[in-house]
Amino acid sequence: MRDLPWAARVYLVVVIGAAAALIVRSVITSDAPVAAEDLDVLLVLALLFLVCESMPTLLNVDQFAVSVSFSASLAAVVLIGPDGAALVGLTAILSVRPGLPLIKRLFNGAQFAICGYAAGHVYYTLDGKVGLPKVDAFDDLIGPYAAATAVFVPLNIALTLTMIGLATRVRAEVPMRGMAQFLLSYLGYGTFGLLVAGLWATVQSISAVLVLLPLFVARWAFGQYHAQQRSYDATIAALCQAVETKDYYTRGHCTRVSHASSMIAQEIGMGLERVRAIRYAGMLHDVGKLGVPTKVLQKDGPLTEEEFAAIQLHPMRGLEIVRGIGFLDEAYAGIMHHHEKHDGTGYPMGLAGDEIPEFAKVIAVADAFDSMTSDRSYRGARPVPEAIEELRKSAGTHFDPVMVTAFIRALEREPWQPPRRVDPPPDAAEAPIKDHDDPTMPIQVVTGQ
Ligand SMILES: [Fe+2]
Repeated sequence: MRDLPWAARVYLVVVIGAAAALIVRSVITSDAPVAAEDLDVLLVLALLFLVCESMPTLLNVDQFAVSVSFSASLAAVVLIGPDGAALVGLTAILSVRPGLPLIKRLFNGAQFAICGYAAGHVYYTLDGKVGLPKVDAFDDLIGPYAAATAVFVPLNIALTLTMIGLATRVRAEVPMRGMAQFLLSYLGYGTFGLLVAGLWATVQSISAVLVLLPLFVARWAFGQYHAQQRSYDATIAALCQAVETKDYYTRGHCTRVSHASSMIAQEIGMGLERVRAIRYAGMLHDVGKLGVPTKVLQKDGPLTEEEFAAIQLHPMRGLEIVRGIGFLDEAYAGIMHHHEKHDGTGYPMGLAGDEIPEFAKVIAVADAFDSMTSDRSYRGARPVPEAIEELRKSAGTHFDPVMVTAFIRALEREPWQPPRRVDPPPDAAEAPIKDHDDPTMPIQVVTGQ
């Protein structure tokens, strides 16, 4: 609490105070917020809310999590009314989430109580009948229930985003695609709340478990999938860092090649899974440099045939290093063939045109573009328009023309942010004066040595 800016503290107190006032008011103005015969409903829904709230699913939108608990709250709106829905939401205070401080749990409980009460009040005002829904009157519930959902969702989002904004002092913005995903999830769960209420008349408390448990399991599995993706990303990032320690000047190169590759992949219409795979391939395209002596990679002057052969082997070495990583799939081809050229003069296999795997064609363009627009110890970065012109000139010889055109189109939509100037390292005398992996530098080889 002490770490929060004063505005966030005031807001927190206001939200918690408002929730407390709602609960106290309902206790004072009625004998009990929930009738004695409805206590079992309250207990089951509160328990379900608590379990779901304790295990939310992280969306692939930064900082956002969504949980099935929302449906239990809306089922309470129909079954036990606004005061009951507020009490169900309040149980978020008791949620068990590792690392979630008490202050956040207090805020969550308070804002869910407010949302539940407001949704319940709207439902009641629009003549929604509180209690077990009757089969012949079920249609009458749908309108008020939809209105209750339409109040709960934006109110919940607004209360939460305001808190994030005040606490972090930045306007909390969710990308539009993320917001659409967020809203769709919420509205979907809203429907499950109505199902729970509808089934309660026939199977009582089992309805909540029947409807929400499979959904909860599916969300949990989805969360596991995201956790797995994060561990993949961490593995790739670690390998990438290991490669970049070989050359002070190429730091960030793998990440930028990965980004440029995914721009091209999206432009040519690759599906989500392939875009993810090419992102990995871009990150790891030079992992084979770990198997080439640094002094060879950075040797000043012409290479001997043996040294040239060692450099030409780095794509194969890369394949050997990552072969055991099962999730890379098509990325293997991108790593192995990223130095092939469209006219067949590249390496390691001298493939030409359509013989070159699509991933490798994409990475070749991204790799050359980032090399040209980054500083090296032996030359400065070239401006983006100049690098684009260079790609254009080499389309059809070095690069696949389709990939070059796609990249130029993608750059018109999303301008490139070249890396900042690299200051020479403290031990500049030892800085490399060549990088024989630079696809834009011709490699000189001395024969007969
Ligand atoms: Fe390379």
